[in-house]
Amino acid sequence: MRHAEFNHPVLVQVYDAMFGWSRDDDFFMSVVDALPCARVVDLGCGTGRLALAMSAAGHSVTGVDPAGASLDAARAKPGAERVAWIEGSSDVLPDAAFDVAVMTSHVAQFFVTDEQWNQALADLKRALVPGGRLTFDSRDPRARGWKQWNPADSRRQVCLPDGRSVTATIDVDAVTDHVVSFIIRYSFSDGQSLASTGDLRFRTEAELRSSVAAAGLRIEQIYGGWNREPIGANDGEFLVIARA
Ligand SMILES: C[S@@+](CC[C@H](N)C(=O)[O-])C[C@H]1O[C@@H](n2cnc3c(N)ncnc32)[C@H](O)[C@@H]1O
Repeated sequence: MRHAEFNHPVLVQVYDAMFGWSRDDDFFMSVVDALPCARVVDLGCGTGRLALAMSAAGHSVTGVDPAGASLDAARAKPGAERVAWIEGSSDVLPDAAFDVAVMTSHVAQFFVTDEQWNQALADLKRALVPGGRLTFDSRDPRARGWKQWNPADSRRQVCLPDGRSVTATIDVDAVTDHVVSFIIRYSFSDGQSLASTGDLRFRTEAELRSSVAAAGLRIEQIYGGWNREPIGANDGEFLVIARA
């Protein structure tokens, strides 16, 4: 199944077990916290880790994601009743309703074609109030992070709430024009196995700058690492902060 890691109820549990709070979330929280009591939209909110934390910090949060199984997991978490959850993508966003928009854990790379990406940026610009901020992460293709997406380097094992353990590995099928196609294989301790395929676009700094500007947003900063290092210095990331 395509992107089953967000759409299959069991794999959603695996996602939550594997990806807890991290320095990525600290970075995005610091950007959002710059404006107290902000109206925030988390596009591609997944199972709601950051959306719930932003809500607990006093922000008014809307979480949007096309993956119903991920939203079901988010809605079942403590504090979920204080977040507005919407199943869909950027096209469902209301006009001029948010002070801050976030896309975290590389949601931006899920918009693979230029058309999808430009539409998402246009929708986010439309959804922000004048002066509102957009922040997101995207992996720098020069770091070639997908080179570590092989069964030996990517192997991870976690325990699930039902007592089973699961081992996940990633393998790259193809890299074409900065689109990386991959498969994640899951094997469970009771013999079950599942797989998920997907594609992610790795945009260059120039592509990010020109597409963000074309959507009518002004780039304030692009960092290269989670501690606000310059581009190229550290984590192989582009951490973008732009203003409507
Ligand atoms: C790696 S997960 C990140 C989830 C969450 N932001 C986090 O930090 O855990 C990527 C998310 O992007 C969502 N996504 C994929 N395509 C999307 C689209 N077109 N619009 C909005 N979200 C999308 C997926 O459903 C998934 O929940």
